[in-house]
Amino acid sequence: MSSKTDLRVDSLLRILADGKFHSGETIAEKLQVSRAAIWKLIKKLKEWQITIYSVRGRGYQIPGGLALLDSDAISTSLSKNGSEFNKVFVLTSIDSTANFVAEQWKKAPGESMVCIAEHQTQGRGRKGRPWVSPFAANLYFSIGIQMPLGLSALGGISLAVGISLANTLNRYTRQSIKIKWPNDLLVDNQKLAGILVEASGDSNDNSFLNIGIGINWDMQTAQGELIDQPWTNLKKLVTSELKRSQILSDVLIDLEKTFSEYQQNGLQILGKQWNVLSALYRQPVTLLRANDRINGIEAGIDPSGALRLATDNGEKIIHSGEVSLRKR
Ligand code: BTN
Repeated sequence: MSSKTDLRVDSLLRILADGKFHSGETIAEKLQVSRAAIWKLIKKLKEWQITIYSVRGRGYQIPGGLALLDSDAISTSLSKNGSEFNKVFVLTSIDSTANFVAEQWKKAPGESMVCIAEHQTQGRGRKGRPWVSPFAANLYFSIGIQMPLGLSALGGISLAVGISLANTLNRYTRQSIKIKWPNDLLVDNQKLAGILVEASGDSNDNSFLNIGIGINWDMQTAQGELIDQPWTNLKKLVTSELKRSQILSDVLIDLEKTFSEYQQNGLQILGKQWNVLSALYRQPVTLLRANDRINGIEAGIDPSGALRLATDNGEKIIHSGEVSLRKR
């Protein structure tokens, strides 16, 4: 999409976000485009699975309206809290926020940034799975940061991110959110949020982290139809005043503190919370790998973030990667 079209789509969304009918004529006037151009923009929004009614004589309406992300509120809250993210991009639609950060880094390697999108056309999950990203339903964002640690010291960073995220969200939900190793956030065994960390750099003293987070907020059953595991939404667990923009700034502010804690102490202090936050601690589990499965009891994590699995043949230390854990 050209950037001109981008701006027009944004303006159109902002007009229709109130959930009222707006005539084609008024919209055309506000956007300074023809009625035919409006029709094309509406088509684009429909391609993103946004429900739009068009009624002769009344115009266009998004039933129920949209609660869009508020980029000013996010920036204000971040700067008030002394955030050091150099740039915050709030996008309407993108292939993947992770790709966006990677692209930006081609121009300014390692610049600290956050990219948030209302919609992803090619959201990516762990193990090559797609991450379903319907418009304005959830939170999708990627954080790009550089860390003065070599790759070998970053084994526990995705756990640290999971612990931080669970703590932030648990402030709204009275501790109902748990983590399934390595870093799925669950409520009653249903997935609430996922984390995908892509790290590059050298093994000694400098790394680039592209940390992608998806939090289910208010996804409709039909929108999540293609998800191959039970999932749930945060919105039904919190008070009605909470907005996605506030969650996002709270999460980012806490994550910045987590990053500096991790830089100083690794998982030494953060990891102490694992046994309380883990959904499966001391429970019988099966670990699934490409070619085998191991039964055992989850026995916490080691200082590098690897999973300790108590099995009939002694303790096994499992490093993350292409593995998954199931409750037995
Ligand atoms: C998982 O499979 O649990 C990880 C999901 C990570 C999804 C997020 S959404 C924002 C960022 N952009 C992507 O394409 N993926 C991550």
